[in-house]
Amino acid sequence: MNFKKPFPSTRFYFNVNRLSRILLIICFFFLFTSEIFSRTIEVHEGESIQKAIDSLEKGDTVKVYPGIYHEFLFVDKTFFTLSGVIVNGRWPTLDGGGKLNDGVIGSGANFLIENFHIKNYKANGVMTQGAGNIIMRKLIVENTGIYGIYPTMGTNVLIEDTVSLGIADAAIYIGMCHNVDVRRNEVYGSVIGIEIENSTNVLIEGNTVYDNSAGIVAFALPGLPLKKVENVIIRNNFIFDNNHRNFAEPGALVAGVPPGIGIGVMAGDAVTIEGNIIRRNSFAGIGIGDNNLLPNSKSPDPDVEPNPDRNKVLENVFIDNGVRKWNDFISWIFYVIRILFSGNPIPESPNGGKVGVFPDGYDIVASGKGKDNCLIAPDSVTKIGTSSYEVCNPKETTEKIKTMIGDPKLGEAKSDERELGKQVFGAVCSGCHSMNIRTVGPPIKEIQEKYKKDVYGVVSFASMPKKVRAGFIEMPSQKYLGNEKLTAVSNYILNLKDEGAKGVVK
Ligand code: HEC
Repeated sequence: MNFKKPFPSTRFYFNVNRLSRILLIICFFFLFTSEIFSRTIEVHEGESIQKAIDSLEKGDTVKVYPGIYHEFLFVDKTFFTLSGVIVNGRWPTLDGGGKLNDGVIGSGANFLIENFHIKNYKANGVMTQGAGNIIMRKLIVENTGIYGIYPTMGTNVLIEDTVSLGIADAAIYIGMCHNVDVRRNEVYGSVIGIEIENSTNVLIEGNTVYDNSAGIVAFALPGLPLKKVENVIIRNNFIFDNNHRNFAEPGALVAGVPPGIGIGVMAGDAVTIEGNIIRRNSFAGIGIGDNNLLPNSKSPDPDVEPNPDRNKVLENVFIDNGVRKWNDFISWIFYVIRILFSGNPIPESPNGGKVGVFPDGYDIVASGKGKDNCLIAPDSVTKIGTSSYEVCNPKETTEKIKTMIGDPKLGEAKSDERELGKQVFGAVCSGCHSMNIRTVGPPIKEIQEKYKKDVYGVVSFASMPKKVRAGFIEMPSQKYLGNEKLTAVSNYILNLKDEGAKGVVK
């Protein structure tokens, strides 16, 4: 084709104009979408997960496909998602081969990890350090040394739908955290199933806890920066056959825990135990005591109040606790030998003396001088040491409390996070949800009433929706948005005020 000579420059300008327009549109597109959509990198067997983590930033996701990965993973980014992909029942497995110390350490806030099988580490399966807004779910944690799932110094921590086994200290260990939910986990074959230590506002609900030396414990220990265990609900759990031989490292604190304990509270305050099935724990279905049970109780921490106060044992089902079988005797023989050789004293008994070599067991064993503890139906259980316990008011129940996780950001929400929530809502959710009226999905009002402050409940639902309502389509998963956007939009939704008269959210 022949171009006419007189006009080449105009044509040139026209092209630049068009090009720049297209470029501008592309830029806009990316500007907008990068705000809404997060980057995701896929990792397949044979590749390095840590490399993928290092190449990403805040708000991004690493997706790991099935295979065995001999790695230690360190995530120090915020709003980061580490997500396994399960294909045909095959999980991505992190295997420390008995040589590596930790499976995963997360030190950034707003970290989500899910869908991994983590095994054979020497220290911890998954540990998060000092970070808030943590979700750990759908993990299998096996033989990972001292702790399985271990958030420490965190605020707003959710642990759900995990399985842990074969851990030589606590399978799930809540260390010095605030606002924690631990729900629907299975924990077995460990020294301690679930341990809450020097933490406040903790809900332990719907877990299956069996074949550990002790099932669920709440301890206030001396010598740590946070000084109490307070406001804990242990509710609707199945806690049975926790008579496992204590195989903790000799000399470790938990090596002193006698086998056969369903729920143990030491120096805990305002611990409410309700709705659990507590069966065949051979020493104590529930044991409540003070810090004199500790081996080094002669040098106490002046800032730790050593007595258990304001604890409530409400309606639970107790069956066959305190009954010993041959296996349980073997556990006890190991325990007594260990205690004698390690120099730890045998714990004080409820009557002030030492626990005998094979003390009797009961549904409830209490010791120490705590105040204002209560027991709802004293006549229905076998018990010792509970003479100072009052009868709980039958109207008291924890039913109304759905979660201990505080609104991760309410009040101090940074405006850019609210902005992000608003943007995601406008771009994605508002297609199907409006404030007061049903469009495709239920109105936001209804969601607010149902979820109250449970931001993670909304995050959880939106990333893995289930069929809830008859006559509605199933909501499509919003998981692709990533952790940061889902948290922001869930926060936004739960705090949305009804401003539009016509129920239209602006
Ligand atoms: C394509 C339409 C659609 C989009 C987009 C959508 N939803 Fe939904 N959502 C629904 C439907 C339909 C239901 C009702 C499902 C049911 O009850 O079975 C629902 C229900 C819900 C519920 C209530 C769950 C419960 O337990 O009752 C929440 C929370 C929710 N959506 C959050 C969100 C969030 C957050 C977003 C945006 C990130 C979003 N939805 C985007 C259609 C949608």
